[in-house]
Amino acid sequence: MQFHEDEERYASFDWQIFKRLLRYARPFWKYLFLAFLILLFITVLDLLPPYVSKIIIDQHLVLNNREYNGKKIISFEGEYYLIEPQKVNKGYEVFEEDGKVILKNLNGEEYLLTEKLDNETLNEIRRNDIKKIIVFSLALIGILIASFFLNYSQIFLLNLAGQKIIHNIRVELFSHILKLDLKFFESNPVGRLVTRVNNDTQNLNEMYTSVIVSVVKDVFTFVGICLVMFLLDRKLALVSYATIPFIIVSVALFRIFQRRIYRMVRTRLARINAYISERISGIKIIHLFMQHKRTKKEFDEINKSYYDALIKRVVVFGLFRPLIDLIYFLGLSLLIWYGGRDIIRGQMDFGILYAFTSYLGMLFGPIRDFSEKFDIMQSAMASAEKIFKILDTKPKVKNETKVSPFKAEGELKFENVWFAYNDEEWVLKNVSFEVKKGEKVAIVGPTGAGKTSIIKLLTRFYDPQKGRILIDGVDIKDISLEELRKHIGVVSQDVFLFSGTVKENIKLNEDIPDEVIYEAARRTWVADFIKKLPRGFEEPVMERGAILSAGQRQLIALARVMAFDPKIVVLDEATANIDSETENLILKAMERVMEGRTTIIIAHRLSTIKNADKIIVIINGKVVEVGTHEELFAKNGVYKELYTIQFQLN
Ligand SMILES: Nc1ncnc2c1ncn2[C@@H]1O[C@H](COP(=O)(O)OP(=O)(O)O)[C@@H](O)[C@H]1O
Ligand SMILES: [Mg+2]
Repeated sequence: MQFHEDEERYASFDWQIFKRLLRYARPFWKYLFLAFLILLFITVLDLLPPYVSKIIIDQHLVLNNREYNGKKIISFEGEYYLIEPQKVNKGYEVFEEDGKVILKNLNGEEYLLTEKLDNETLNEIRRNDIKKIIVFSLALIGILIASFFLNYSQIFLLNLAGQKIIHNIRVELFSHILKLDLKFFESNPVGRLVTRVNNDTQNLNEMYTSVIVSVVKDVFTFVGICLVMFLLDRKLALVSYATIPFIIVSVALFRIFQRRIYRMVRTRLARINAYISERISGIKIIHLFMQHKRTKKEFDEINKSYYDALIKRVVVFGLFRPLIDLIYFLGLSLLIWYGGRDIIRGQMDFGILYAFTSYLGMLFGPIRDFSEKFDIMQSAMASAEKIFKILDTKPKVKNETKVSPFKAEGELKFENVWFAYNDEEWVLKNVSFEVKKGEKVAIVGPTGAGKTSIIKLLTRFYDPQKGRILIDGVDIKDISLEELRKHIGVVSQDVFLFSGTVKENIKLNEDIPDEVIYEAARRTWVADFIKKLPRGFEEPVMERGAILSAGQRQLIALARVMAFDPKIVVLDEATANIDSETENLILKAMERVMEGRTTIIIAHRLSTIKNADKIIVIINGKVVEVGTHEELFAKNGVYKELYTIQFQLN
């Protein structure tokens, strides 16, 4: 099965793209700067609670090893002894021998512990401790509250900036898409462009608001924690750092697998999207040709392959967190092992170990979320790349204004025009013809001869590769697209109606007064059926004009042109797909629209062609015969042949 899929480069990180994204953030640098500043405070606040806890534990909770009146408190079997700090040295053990309590320090020196802490002093110390603990607990609450408000303002600022940035990008993208020419839309299905404007910009928003900032925050926190650890206790710091290489290896491995699976998931998702939108667009054919079973079977297959990719993703993503947790618990065990030993030896205070375990947890927090952030980053990069690709697409048809203002009389000339949609597959070959002011010219030829292509060149949806097209002697390339199109009114086979009222659909140019609209509607017999609508001109037209028949839509298109009042009118198979009842009405309306205007009419109804001032016969992109009906008929050439095959049948 072949689908139109999005191709992606899947670069996980691209500096060029990133720099360009930052450029969009520049106008909002004040918000971002403030957010970063707040972030700095938040990071510091985040680092505080374990440190405060450490102080509470070591200085107000645990009595052992604490300083009191210049002496050190040593606890042993429920009793508290005082001793000069220098005797304790860097570590010690306490034991009882013959009813005497002895402290032996690391140098092997032994001291008798004689001075006990009496109950009254003990009670006083404890009373004081409780007061301090209350103070510190209040401080902790204060920190948390401050942190809450700072976090909230930071999140708010960032999202505000993010939404502003995205708003700009969305507007720029959509208005850029509007300016692109048909060539672009041929290779970009509607669904894809909708995704670009909506989902892809949303992906960028997530990157601005959650990734960039959290990466900065994570780096701040990481460095901060490493620093605090180092200052608190070097040995335990080194023990904690020992987990870092494991983290790096896990993350690197994860990245490799993640990227591969990301690509797989995205490709298959794109395929499933393309399939769904294509089949739903063709739902009529599916119904008519009873394709339900086959469609379901195909969908099952595509869906299954998407499912498989998602399961693989679960395998890899599911592994990452537990792996990081494993490393965390390894680090925690090491900390408890080393720290616990030193605490028992009197070489370390318990509060330090407590602080370290907290900090280690904080160190691993951001890494645990790494997989999600990486995913966001990757899809943001992919989205950015696709958005920029559109923004970098320049319209092929250059909009230049060499002749302005341009007042057309309606004289038309094709001069040796060569045109191909792709490379050198010529659709029009050396086409030359002339239409005088107010003349009616019919172009006839078999399907695929290039008739519609001539119109597309005239309205400059495309430019010819060779030759010139002139209106009143001016090359249409020298006129701005706005001025050119102001002079040409086109009614084609399928009329597109926008959602809105009937009136809005006739009045495509806001400058046209309502009276002109009503008059145009009246003159093209549109008003006749509009009157029968419940709300008349204010009747809402459903999307694509589903409530109106093909003929009615055709009439609305004629009224549009009438109200627009161009010098040149093009009717491209305007009566195809029309029931014969409405046809007469349309033919009459067409006559009205043609009055006093230069007209090119592409039709296969004899009556419209017969009355033309000139008939141009095109076959295979070449003009083969030119003349009036009588002349060409008498010539016994291609026209007569076409006429007998095609028109006789109608
Ligand atoms: N957008 C396009 N891209 C490539 N080829 C096209 C495109 N539109 C039309 N063609 C080709 O150009 C030729 C002329 O098409 P067209 O001008 O629509 O013919 P006609 O209107 O006479 O039926 C056909 O062979 C058609 O397949
Ligand atoms: Mg055509």
